[in-house]
Amino acid sequence: VEKLLLDVDPGIDDALAILMALGNDDVEVVGLTTVMGNTTVENTTTNALALLEFVDRADVPVAQGAGRPFADELVMAEYVHGPGGMPETVREALPDPTTEPIEAHAVEFILEQAREHGDDLTIAAVGPQTNIALAVARDPTLPDRVADIYQMGGALKTTGNVTPQASFNFYVDAAAAARVVQDAWPTVVGLDVTEPAYLPPAAQERFRGRGAYGDVIADILAYKAQGPDGVVAEDGSITSDAVVLAGVLGDPLTYEDAYVEIDTTGGPSNGATIYDEHGVYEEAPNCTVALDVDIERCREVILSNLEGLAGP
Ligand code: BDR
Ligand code: CA
Repeated sequence: VEKLLLDVDPGIDDALAILMALGNDDVEVVGLTTVMGNTTVENTTTNALALLEFVDRADVPVAQGAGRPFADELVMAEYVHGPGGMPETVREALPDPTTEPIEAHAVEFILEQAREHGDDLTIAAVGPQTNIALAVARDPTLPDRVADIYQMGGALKTTGNVTPQASFNFYVDAAAAARVVQDAWPTVVGLDVTEPAYLPPAAQERFRGRGAYGDVIADILAYKAQGPDGVVAEDGSITSDAVVLAGVLGDPLTYEDAYVEIDTTGGPSNGATIYDEHGVYEEAPNCTVALDVDIERCREVILSNLEGLAGP
């Protein structure tokens, strides 16, 4: 991966994903695009700008994107991420941004970057998939131009985290998630691999007391540990978006090509990932799915990349 565009809804695990990418000297973050999800798009944009300013990377452009899903009513996850998408302690540590998003809409920016960088560019979309779906609708050649489109979302063999069946990002805009899966051959990194790779409490100690930057990371992990979603271990922090970045920056994930559909029928399984494990539909694969994770390696990729940034 040489150049990386992150489509985000920060969001505390989004914040970790952004910081990991900035902490890795081998990749250039060409920009952030924002989408509604964990909170409104106005808040996710402010949070993205604040985070960049905090680590002295206000040079990274932020393009604001979709504020509403295609068809579904907007459901947010402030109950997981904090009011406005960030815990109070983190909000207090971050500056009020003095910078603004660029004028271009996220979709324009994505298409422009894809034209400029071609297959040097990897896109990781770790929020609802609205911006990517719009970009692919606008330019169906987008997936062929770029190296890879990673999606955080889906629950293949495991259960959902926002409804029994659906993962949050795909539930929020099921139509968009379906469009990306159908038309963009994404690399789907779902809860099957992100939840088992939760970070244990010791990860907090690795950062606490190491300046403002270390404390923000420790605060995020501590806050996430209390979250009501998918509690797999006492005080463990599920940081799904960071696991996706671990897959982008390292090799802790194992993948297979598969045929996948997203349920858009609006019923109790809306947004669910229909993963045709046994090929009963006899359809050719349409995406690459992450099925297994080397948990220890994944944790190390996350933590070492977060440590790559000294911060304030
Ligand atoms: C995903 O949904 C959001 O709440 C998180 O930021 C992550 O992208 C986890 O289901
Ligand atoms: Ca997210």
